Amino acid sequence: MSEMTEKKTVFSGVQPSGNLTIGNYLGAIKNFSRFSEEYKTFYCVVDLHAITVRQVPAELRRRTYETLALYMACGLDADKNTLFVQSHVPQHAELGWILDCYTMFGELSRMTQFKDKSAKHSQNINAGLFTYPALMAADILLYQTDIVPVGIDQKQHLELARDVAMRFNQIYSDTFRIPEGYIPTDTMKIMSLAEPTAKMSKSDPNQNAVVYILDSKDDIMRKFKRAVTDSDSVVRYSEDKPGVSNLMTIYRAFTGKSLDEIEREFDGRGYGEFKLAVGEACADGLAPVRAEFDRLIADKAYLEAVMKKGAEDAYHTARKTMSKVRRKIGFVG
Ligand code: TRP
Repeated sequence: MSEMTEKKTVFSGVQPSGNLTIGNYLGAIKNFSRFSEEYKTFYCVVDLHAITVRQVPAELRRRTYETLALYMACGLDADKNTLFVQSHVPQHAELGWILDCYTMFGELSRMTQFKDKSAKHSQNINAGLFTYPALMAADILLYQTDIVPVGIDQKQHLELARDVAMRFNQIYSDTFRIPEGYIPTDTMKIMSLAEPTAKMSKSDPNQNAVVYILDSKDDIMRKFKRAVTDSDSVVRYSEDKPGVSNLMTIYRAFTGKSLDEIEREFDGRGYGEFKLAVGEACADGLAPVRAEFDRLIADKAYLEAVMKKGAEDAYHTARKTMSKVRRKIGFVG
């Protein structure tokens, strides 16, 4: 295939935390599988990034398997996507170090995630936490990535990756493709069930505010029953009704019904019934994901085979970029 007709590349990294929310599912993961029709896609479990905060070894290992299984259960087909673990492909660490030397202290100091995380982990403000975005740039640039689907919270890191790539290209001539972010619009932003003006966050200490993809049906129903609404009783989408609007967004996502249809469906029926219906739709929508997850997580050998094949495939592409990088910098051999 000539370069002109080659498929464009999509890359995204996911933290090895097993507990993804319906916000992650509806806003991002569910759509990932669509890319594989049109693009060459790489999805990477970023264990090197994970150790910038302290991890319990057995849990990190377990979560790495779980994250892979969960993404596959959400629809990422291992035959159509390259699914792999970051530390299995040594070029990530290698290019990460190199890009550290082309990333400025001042740039890294401005990263809001670094500021937030160093406030949260004040006993462990390590150098890796600081240079995290340079490693993320390496992840992306190794695969000559065109498109990076990420949440809005990663926009600043992505811009840094572009800046570093352009800087490198300017010093040494064209080496890296300049990636574009693909940041889903707010229409699919899922809010907390307890505080519907804040985004649903997997680390929310109030567990009733968050619905996880792998929650049991009982948990899902209980959480929706307790969801904060308002003192009105009309199911209507409106800015001054953030709780109800959020539930309508979730219901729409799982049923495919429009907001108008939902308003009509619950006309005169009150919030109690509506919440039950949202809970049912969510539990039904997630049931196949959960069943597939249970099946996959019980089959470690299969997951390991997927990781191995993914790493081999990723290695092949990463190696090409690295040999270019090494040559341009002036490394011998
Ligand atoms: N930093 C991202 C996050 O916290 C994860 C990540 C690591 C990533 N490397 C990446 C995302 C490369 C996109 C591309 O969510």
